[in-house]
Amino acid sequence: MTDYRAFLETKRLAAAPSGFTAAPATINPHLCPFSLDLVRRCVELWSNPGDVVLDPFAGVGSVGVVAIERGRRFLGTELKASYFGTAARNLRQAEAKASAPTLFDMARVG
Ligand SMILES: C[S@@+](CC[C@H](N)C(=O)[O-])C[C@H]1O[C@@H](n2cnc3c(N)ncnc32)[C@H](O)[C@@H]1O
Repeated sequence: MTDYRAFLETKRLAAAPSGFTAAPATINPHLCPFSLDLVRRCVELWSNPGDVVLDPFAGVGSVGVVAIERGRRFLGTELKASYFGTAARNLRQAEAKASAPTLFDMARVG
């Protein structure tokens, strides 16, 4: 692994919310993944829960992951097939995480 790739990997993991990792840079390097904290601020400022967030340049799906995490819906397009595949995987993970019951939900049921 080159130093540059190691640097990218460090940045990507630092930007990922807990439990979510985008594709490792070694497998599918993406030169410009967003900072998820920046995306969170934008999504919360400019949309409401239930709204559709559109990212026409979706890359590995960072905006979609945050949209789902914050109770929005997501529409994205991506030119590069490998990024699209990674985005689909990341979005599926985000949906599973968002719909998984927490211990607090369980406590309400019981
Ligand atoms: C700045 S990157 C997006 C990064 C993304 N926000 C992320 O965090 O993964 C821009 C993306 O736009 C895609 N792209 C460029 N031209 C496009 C087009 N005409 N239609 C769809 N996607 C395009 C590129 O393949 C690239 O993945």
